Amino acid sequence: MKLFRDRRSTPLWRDEFAIDQADERYVNRRQFSKFLVLTSLGMLVGNVMIAVRSWLRGAPPPLPAAPVATASEIPVGAVKLFNYPTPQDPCILVRVAAERFVAYSQKCTHLSCAVYYEAAEKRLECPCHQGYFSVEDGSVLQGPPPRPLPRVVIEQRGETLVATGIETGARPGGHA
Ligand code: FES
Repeated sequence: MKLFRDRRSTPLWRDEFAIDQADERYVNRRQFSKFLVLTSLGMLVGNVMIAVRSWLRGAPPPLPAAPVATASEIPVGAVKLFNYPTPQDPCILVRVAAERFVAYSQKCTHLSCAVYYEAAEKRLECPCHQGYFSVEDGSVLQGPPPRPLPRVVIEQRGETLVATGIETGARPGGHA
């Protein structure tokens, strides 16, 4: 088989594979662009599906109301531990004034150690890494915790203190 017509003419393989090296790069760039467009399209479709699914699911159902204490059993400055909304969720209720009760999840937002109330400092303290939280609104005062303590919403119904929900995130101030 003859590979060259002669030494000075174009090699035979050139006729059969007539793509220059520069053109080959151009084709690769085009394929890469196609890949990017298809990937972006796939991500867009995925995000739209997630948005539609969460829209169809709607808001989560409200938490059930649960009595957690009676006002007379907790002196001012004292605490009561309880579980809400499930038995696996420890919470701490603090009577900060005669007419004011606040409650929070007892799990530190750093690594979930149990916080306790330090009455002398009027703050909730985590013993694991000295994370301190304001007893007024659960905000972080010091240490590694990245978020405020989730606040348990407490309603006073006569003598009974009733947990009715949980609020998370930044808050301007906590009230029972
Ligand atoms: S677990 Fe509470 S500060 Fe680290």
